[in-house]
Amino acid sequence: MSSFTQATAANSLQCVHISRRDRIAVVEISNPPVNALSSPVKQALADAIDSAVNSSEIAAIVLTGAGKHFCGGADIREFGQVTGPSLSTLCTQIENSTKPVIAAIKGSCLGGGLELALAAHFRIAVAPAQLGLPEVNLGLMPGAGGTQRLPRLVGAARALDMMVSGRSVKASVAVQIGLIDRVCSDDVLQDAAVQFANEIIQSGQCVRRSRDALAMSDTDQSRVEIDQAKDIALAKKGLVSPAKIVEAVQASLELPFEKGLIKERELFSECLESPQRSALIHAFLAEKAASKMPGLSVVLPTPLRTIAVIGAGTMGVGISIALLDAGYAVLLLDREQAYLERGLNAIAESYRKQQERNRISAEVKAERLARLACHIDYSALHGADLIIEAVFEDMAVKKELLCQLEKACKPDAILATNTSYLNIDEMSEGLDHPERVIGIHFFSPANLMKLVEVVVPEKADQRTVAIAFQLAKSMKKTPVRAGMCDGFIGNRMLAVYREAAELMMLDGASPYQIDEAVREFGFPMGPFQVVDLAGGDISWATRKRKASQRDPRLRYVSVADKLCERGWFGQKTGIGYYLYDKDGKNARPNPELEDVLSEVRAEAGIVPKHFTQQTIIDHYLAAMINEGANVVHQGIALRPSDVDVTLLNGYGFPRYKGGPMWYADSVGLERVLANIARYAETDPLFWKPSDLLVELANHGRSFSDLNR
Ligand code: COA
Repeated sequence: MSSFTQATAANSLQCVHISRRDRIAVVEISNPPVNALSSPVKQALADAIDSAVNSSEIAAIVLTGAGKHFCGGADIREFGQVTGPSLSTLCTQIENSTKPVIAAIKGSCLGGGLELALAAHFRIAVAPAQLGLPEVNLGLMPGAGGTQRLPRLVGAARALDMMVSGRSVKASVAVQIGLIDRVCSDDVLQDAAVQFANEIIQSGQCVRRSRDALAMSDTDQSRVEIDQAKDIALAKKGLVSPAKIVEAVQASLELPFEKGLIKERELFSECLESPQRSALIHAFLAEKAASKMPGLSVVLPTPLRTIAVIGAGTMGVGISIALLDAGYAVLLLDREQAYLERGLNAIAESYRKQQERNRISAEVKAERLARLACHIDYSALHGADLIIEAVFEDMAVKKELLCQLEKACKPDAILATNTSYLNIDEMSEGLDHPERVIGIHFFSPANLMKLVEVVVPEKADQRTVAIAFQLAKSMKKTPVRAGMCDGFIGNRMLAVYREAAELMMLDGASPYQIDEAVREFGFPMGPFQVVDLAGGDISWATRKRKASQRDPRLRYVSVADKLCERGWFGQKTGIGYYLYDKDGKNARPNPELEDVLSEVRAEAGIVPKHFTQQTIIDHYLAAMINEGANVVHQGIALRPSDVDVTLLNGYGFPRYKGGPMWYADSVGLERVLANIARYAETDPLFWKPSDLLVELANHGRSFSDLNR
């Protein structure tokens, strides 16, 4: 070891490796899995840079990451408890280096990782590398000079777009917009970076600081673009950090660099303190936790290649597209040729639209469609590793289908059902291998919605569960383990909070008031808008099917039935809770609804009460939280955070509020329980507090305690 590496190795911890290539110091962040910038990493980096700058043996520094990624950013788990040098100080140290620093980038270069690279003097990346500032997704903004350096390098409009959308760019785009200097092939990154460093030394060019770059031209065109980017940021309703990003970029346009950094720091601190930041970080970590089921890591699932989808309806089509997008060979089966053709056309049409909108190229479209085969004959199933049935939601139909599938498929194939309510243990009765049956519940449209409930029946074995998780993750979905009950996690909770909305309507709130309060809270739609969109006839059929199981002591709200009896099914009939134009747009209150409401309230002897927006939300959320607690208590969800992930990714719960269980903790469980107790005074059957909620509230504990 040379004297330079000896000196630095003594100072730095194992999380930063230092080596020498002649006069170039190669400083490699090594903090698996994503090289996050924890306090020890920052300290070790500061030491390494300091030693290299002060060593007469070193002429330039290559900064890179070990493993797959350059760096996934500041350590998310350390926010609010940082020790050691700040990232901002480290970036200034790098930028101030008198010896050229070259960032050699691969994999992800995100957040604080990109801020490090921006502080370096030169940047080289492999073609697939992704560079971005996704802090906005965590309720934050770049806080280590990113808001000041990026606009100087790529222009304010583009910088705003990257920071407000949180989207990353590929190296091929980054080089075009001036974010990086060179692209090289994957296997030669370090050699290419060292060569780049030698060229810089030889040219005598030395350092080139991003803070001195001048991409922020002040033309009319760029001002228009900046204004447009600002408008997009400020339109992000409910979120705190986009407006702060706009302010910081404005500072980069108006203030000298140092003052801009101070402004950025102030704004960053405001974001850091916001409850949105903790809620969004909770959501990120909750999703990571949900995809890990205890015990599954010991099972090695089989690689999947060909997947069959049974049923070419809306769900089957969406699932097929999602599978094709993820690279699988797909066999789509239906019993009728005409249904198959309709499904195939829908898939082709979806790809045609994606190509038209420049989301995919003609080659990608052709390649994906070439992996799709359609059949009406089950003998085609012998080639499938996994089969997903997405046929009509009927126990007898599905039972019979599973028997046929088991006979037609190869011995170790997994049989998955996309049922959203039905008991899978009952469905697999009579099969030879019920241990290979599982629920993989997609949400519509299945090619877009992130959530997948992996519904684990009693008899499913570990391999089957592991394969279901593996499939969901390979499709870039967010899998959540759910136990067996009517509606699993999400639909079971939905049934309860929707009923709470109906009861409020019965007691005097108008559906428009309820929808508005729910939208104001942050959901994209209110419950009555959703019914109109889905079609009132769908839930009517379910209500009729379940009528005999209804507890006769519970209050029953017959408004929806009365609408359906009049043929008012919502958007598809132009009338439901709302009136619509022929194209289903321009929703407005249905003037005849008031008569229906008056009739139903009179029948039930209700004197309408006044509801404020706050009381509506308190009821709606209390119902959701209470049922969420039941779901956890009965083991249907493994942890409260899994309930949050389900509601965030499948039911429109506003991400910046963290999910119902996180929200309950933030409001205080005692308060939630007190609300439920008050509602129970007039309706004790509906408002039965969950045992888990009672226990936690009485012991001063929170749902978060159960996530740990
Ligand atoms: N800080 C701390 N931990 C991080 C992290 C960060 N910035 N980024 C990822 N991780 C952790 C994950 O929580 C996960 O931990 P776990 O294994 O205990 O669940 C692990 O690293 C692997 O992450 P994963 O997302 O599964 O890896 P990937 O290779 O699929 O994706 C990234 C890598 C970097 C693209 C992705 O993790 C990501 O987007 N991270 C967040 C980046 C970010 O927002 N940075 C800005 C921070 S201000």
